[in-house]
Amino acid sequence: MEILTVIGARPQFVKAAVVSRVIRDQAAAGGDIGERIVHTGQHYDHGMSKVFFEEMAIPEPSANLAVGSGMQGEQTAEMIAGIERELVAHKPDLLLVYGDTNSTLAGALAATKLHIPVAHVEAGLRSFDRRMPEEVNRIVTDHVSDFLFCPSQQAASQLAAEGIERGVHVVGDVMVDALEYYRARAIDPARPAPFALATVHRAGNTDDPQRLAAIFEALAAAPTPVVMPIHPRTAAAMERQGISPRGSLECIPPVSYLQMIGLLERCEYVLTDSGGLQKEAYLCGKRCVTLRDQTEWIELVDIGANRIVGADPAAIAAALEWARAPLTEQPRIYGDGQAGAAILSVLRG
Ligand code: UD1
Repeated sequence: MEILTVIGARPQFVKAAVVSRVIRDQAAAGGDIGERIVHTGQHYDHGMSKVFFEEMAIPEPSANLAVGSGMQGEQTAEMIAGIERELVAHKPDLLLVYGDTNSTLAGALAATKLHIPVAHVEAGLRSFDRRMPEEVNRIVTDHVSDFLFCPSQQAASQLAAEGIERGVHVVGDVMVDALEYYRARAIDPARPAPFALATVHRAGNTDDPQRLAAIFEALAAAPTPVVMPIHPRTAAAMERQGISPRGSLECIPPVSYLQMIGLLERCEYVLTDSGGLQKEAYLCGKRCVTLRDQTEWIELVDIGANRIVGADPAAIAAALEWARAPLTEQPRIYGDGQAGAAILSVLRG
């Protein structure tokens, strides 16, 4: 079986590292399986892309479409055209995509139109906010996918509610596999405790001047130091708005995966608008304050590990007191760290 994997943005490198390793192990053991990795080039800075390939030992992509940044439609369209050429040239048995980025959507659309089966890892997630480009990407990708790999039962139930029952498999979350595999190599941040870890990069926050200003104001007033690795989108927005870090807030350049795990292990709590970091905070036993108006990881809110506060400084300030206590219980709602193997066993039938 020949798999063509499409990745392009930072969180996808982490997820693909897991499944790609299982594929290579099975191929090395004599299995009839191979993988061709296509990088769309959605993320292109060294700190947003290459460092993940180096650190996580992800094979060099066979092709890089070098699409870069752009308007939603322009960026996605260029990716579809490039992926289509790859699919026509290499005729894989299956296309594999991860998560909810424009690279995910482009891969799924290109393959399904060529009648190539689509496998979607992290299927069934919903924020119910179609103003997020990621929500549109999730819905469309799920509805054209042949294999839908869900991280949780909740995600499978959501697919059922949308009439998707065939090809749905609850396999757990590949980010659990990643964390368990790489944790021993986490890079210690070498900074005094206590500190909080924050990230902000959602378009809904960075592209809304009022929200961005309110979030930075709240973080500046936090009771403990806050360290924030800065996504280039956020750096550009700060520059545009003349925002610089003040008070408790310290901004640092984007960090690698091993640096991020190190920060997660040592921080007191997490503040974020990222999807993946909400889960990683939980897996590392930290409470998470989510700087959005909703989350697709609703299980975390239900079990009291996550609070949704939006961009309101008073709500953020109130949640910071709550967030300082570590989690006392961490039921394994996202699986047992064997999601990669479970995905391969379904695909190879
Ligand atoms: C994308 C995903 C988002 C994911 C995030 C992880 C979509 C719609 N969104 O958002 O779900 O959480 O990746 O980081 O696919 N830029 C650089 N260098 C880079 C990459 C981006 O400077 O290597 C800057 C550019 O100014 C660009 C902006 O960041 O315009 C946004 O990049 P883009 O890939 O369009 O979306 P993200 O915000 O990264």
